[in-house]
Amino acid sequence: ARIDVDLSDSKSISERLYGLFYEDINHAADGGLYAELVQNRSFEFSPADNASYHPLTAWSVDGDASVQDQGGLNGANPSFLRLGAGGSASNAGYNTGIAVEAGRTYDFSVWARADRSASLTVAVTDAGGNPVAAPAEVRAVNGDWQKYEVAVAAEETTADGRLTVTANGAADLDVVSLFPRDTFMGRENGLRSDLAGMIADLEPSFLRFPGGCIVNTGSYDRDSRERAYNWKDTVGPVEERLVNHNFWGYNQSYGLGYYEYFQFAEDLGAEAIPVVPVGVTGCGDSPEITDPDQLQTWVDDTLDLIEFANGPADSEWGSVRAEMGHPEPFGMEYIGLGNEEYKEQFYANYPAFHDAVREAHPEIRIIANSGTDDEGAVFDRSWEFAREQGADLVDEHYYNSPEWFLSNNDRYDDYDREGPHVFIGEYASQSNTWRSGLAEASYLTGVERNGDVIDLASYAPLLSNIDYIDWTPDMIWFDNDEAVGSVNYEVQKLFAANAGDEAAASTLTADGGTAAPDIRGGVGLGTWNTAATYDNVKVTGADGATLLEDDFTEGADQWTPTGPDGEPVGDWSVVDGAYTQSAIVENARSTAGSADWSNYTIELDAT
Ligand code: AHR
Repeated sequence: ARIDVDLSDSKSISERLYGLFYEDINHAADGGLYAELVQNRSFEFSPADNASYHPLTAWSVDGDASVQDQGGLNGANPSFLRLGAGGSASNAGYNTGIAVEAGRTYDFSVWARADRSASLTVAVTDAGGNPVAAPAEVRAVNGDWQKYEVAVAAEETTADGRLTVTANGAADLDVVSLFPRDTFMGRENGLRSDLAGMIADLEPSFLRFPGGCIVNTGSYDRDSRERAYNWKDTVGPVEERLVNHNFWGYNQSYGLGYYEYFQFAEDLGAEAIPVVPVGVTGCGDSPEITDPDQLQTWVDDTLDLIEFANGPADSEWGSVRAEMGHPEPFGMEYIGLGNEEYKEQFYANYPAFHDAVREAHPEIRIIANSGTDDEGAVFDRSWEFAREQGADLVDEHYYNSPEWFLSNNDRYDDYDREGPHVFIGEYASQSNTWRSGLAEASYLTGVERNGDVIDLASYAPLLSNIDYIDWTPDMIWFDNDEAVGSVNYEVQKLFAANAGDEAAASTLTADGGTAAPDIRGGVGLGTWNTAATYDNVKVTGADGATLLEDDFTEGADQWTPTGPDGEPVGDWSVVDGAYTQSAIVENARSTAGSADWSNYTIELDAT
């Protein structure tokens, strides 16, 4: 093979090309990046978030203990736990439990009140009740709600820990919290250091947050439990933040909120790029804003966000930032208006946001957005609209097959250089496999070649907890004490760490050759490939045992094969329809055990 490079014909590449798409999906925040170890710390879980939830989700109680739903800490946190003398409550955290590691220090805190002086015993044990830390004591709980804190030093390591609080005397408790002290960069109310460290290793140049569909779904009625994402709900003291139904079907505490996102971006050396709702949703069928007064409130909230990020410390919202510990402005430069929008109401609502931001903050770069169809083709109307509006960038999203990425390397070669620039805000080839990783790597060569018009690009989604999966594939997989980067993660790291500043024209001359057909590996679930159908499917586990023999029409859905014991062995799907007689089931993952990252082999006849 031979590569000819023409140095006289080069284009500059955006300095911020490689960054992050972060969404609170797959429990990316609570039970993930947010280092809080207690699940349902405020007893606010509700069937409104998830039919299986109740105020004692993740808790087990003993003796005189009950949740009261009125008269609590504040309006955002009405429910609390009432313990009688000797009553206790244990929290099981996420996944297999609360993960603690010998030698690390954990900060326990609780808001409590007691009519008569009481004390609390704080124990961290394994699931069998064996202590993994010396019990700690909160002494003299007395009077109205106050915050009490005590440190817990772990002497043993466990991934299935329990935090148990026992009341010696009657007491009311709320916001029961256990945090590792060594969060990422030592931030208070901070992030899990292993996950944040892996993210930092990607050397991201921007952080787009907080989603994704969680941004623009839900009700614009402020009293609804399914409120559309409003950044104001997520700032200030954690005990005063609302909890909310997350579009992906769980409770989001907002403990990881806008301040923490800006702080994280700063700690990463990345540009913070918030995305706000514009009163309409491209995801599902949430109510839309048609009332101009209601729309204006959300426009004002958007302007207030810019003040929160960039305003002086004595401005209304800048002072909230300053009180939280960051008097200096964060220096936000971009704002995303809407996520993946294409509905009629978007075209009606967007101008109010765009015009208000442009007028008040001409220095901010405005990102409009677009949908794409299943083939990744751009909805022309969104681009025309963005041009008319004078948006600086358009955010486009696509999740496609490896073949699509391989055959669309030239997608941006003829893009209009005069109009809005491109933000590839979400993209992924549809599996965590070598094949998809290679397809993405190949595609990124085309992205770099067009780095003069593509300013920003981010793989999506970033994070998934293996026991709370809403979407696959994902870049980083984790449970309560481990984290694994997919092959796609390695691709991102490789490109970001070796980002160029100029793309020179080049030509490759090579003999044909054949693609290696047996590409397997990775973790997480594969997704669908609607391009082919299959018959006579046989699935063989890593140990050679037959796990399933059945007919299967691909494209209908994923399904869960069962092992010899009848238990589910994993969620999986065929990834590559191009193989004629056999293929690999990529990413089968045991759901029976906690973290069996193995793959399975599939034999099938293509029809
Ligand atoms: O990344 C997962 C989802 O894909 C996002 O929430 C949404 O923007 C897109 O449809």
